[in-house]
Amino acid sequence: MPVFSDHPGDKNKESAVNNFDYHNPTRILFGEGEIANIGNYIPAGSKVMVLYGGGSIKANGVYQQVSDALAEFDWVEHGGISPNPKYDELMAAVKTVKEQQVDFLLAVGGGSVADGTKFVAAAAHFEGQDPWDILAKQVPVTRALPLATILTLPATGSEANGNSVVTRGEDKLAFNSPLVFPQFSVLDPTTTYTLPARQVANGVVDAFVHTIEQYLTYPVNSPIQDRFAESLLLTLIEEGPKAMADVGKPAEQQNYDVRANIMWAATLALNTLIGKGVPQDWATHMIGHELTAVLGLDHAQTLAVVLPNLMQAQRQPKREKLLQYAERIWGLNEGDEETRIDVAIANTRAFFETMKVKTRISEYGHGAEVVDTLMAQLERHGMVKLGERGDIDLGRSREILEAAL
Ligand code: NZQ
Ligand code: ZN
Repeated sequence: MPVFSDHPGDKNKESAVNNFDYHNPTRILFGEGEIANIGNYIPAGSKVMVLYGGGSIKANGVYQQVSDALAEFDWVEHGGISPNPKYDELMAAVKTVKEQQVDFLLAVGGGSVADGTKFVAAAAHFEGQDPWDILAKQVPVTRALPLATILTLPATGSEANGNSVVTRGEDKLAFNSPLVFPQFSVLDPTTTYTLPARQVANGVVDAFVHTIEQYLTYPVNSPIQDRFAESLLLTLIEEGPKAMADVGKPAEQQNYDVRANIMWAATLALNTLIGKGVPQDWATHMIGHELTAVLGLDHAQTLAVVLPNLMQAQRQPKREKLLQYAERIWGLNEGDEETRIDVAIANTRAFFETMKVKTRISEYGHGAEVVDTLMAQLERHGMVKLGERGDIDLGRSREILEAAL
């Protein structure tokens, strides 16, 4: 299922870059102070709804900046969107949108607020019975409210793509539509100075795995996408630990460049560019979503748990790209090829651990008893042919999960 691919027509040719359709309509306003300029990009006379999460934006001054920038607009707000945004709380926002005749949505926060806002944008114009069908039945979005984001957590790429992930009970599902790309997104690295260590780490790991999902597949003679992906991986490996070292320091002691590099890397990792024309995997994400739905792990924690074991389980089909990854990312170009792959996988795990993200299910307090539940979830959600070749069947997923314990 091409959940995070916006061009399902891709044919996955084995030896050449596929045809592609690249259009990213999101304007990026990058840098310190850019929130002040948002009024230039919201249509005059719009009734705006500002959507946000649990209150971080009130504590770090971002809310005040947004409020000042919207002085000329009539606006309402909807706070309380939780991490891994929930259907019910988003439907409450849809109700207000309709009652207040809102015509522009402004998401202020992390990926959860951005994703939730995309769902609100689509649900507000949904013409069927239940907007959950956009996710559960993949009913195409035919109309959506315009939206924009002010990003405070570099991680998901939601600020520049058409993806949204929403949770209802134990169903954590994704949809994708060109109609929910943000009109613009503000990336002000100073808004990330207040992130706790867990969220800095989560963001770097998520962006790293997004890159891997579009890179570590099989070669199709795509040197541009490959080297672009490699530059993102190397930047995240270099800058991630530096950002961790600055957590909790006051703004004047923060390294702006480190935060800026991470923020731009995370956007480019999933603004759809590096995935164009190349095979895409996404199995780590699809298995990971079940770990969040059932066990409540953070999104990035699930990726750190799954990816090293998926690399191991798929080392034959991914062999050529694993060797390229070993050489270009970890400098492993000598000696036995199997050993190089082993070390590259071990280095990947070690990088996540350097970022203080645990890489085993047992370290999150769960044991072998969870595997059957996770397998049932994968089956129920039709996740039975994952990966760039659809060769990760339920048996392979079980192997990956058992190795992840
Ligand atoms: O809710 P508030 O108070 O704002 O606090 C948030 C939240 O608790 C906090 N936070 C955000 N910015 C902050 C801050 N705290 C201090 N200072 C700041 N500047 O961080 C916590 C986590 O936020 P959340 O938005 O949940 O994190 P993230 O950006 O990692 O988003 C995760 C969600 O995105 C989905 C995930 O599945 C998950 O639901 N994804 C979306 C994707 C997409 N749209 O393309 C792709 C991803 O693979 C992913 O699946
Ligand atoms: Zn992700």
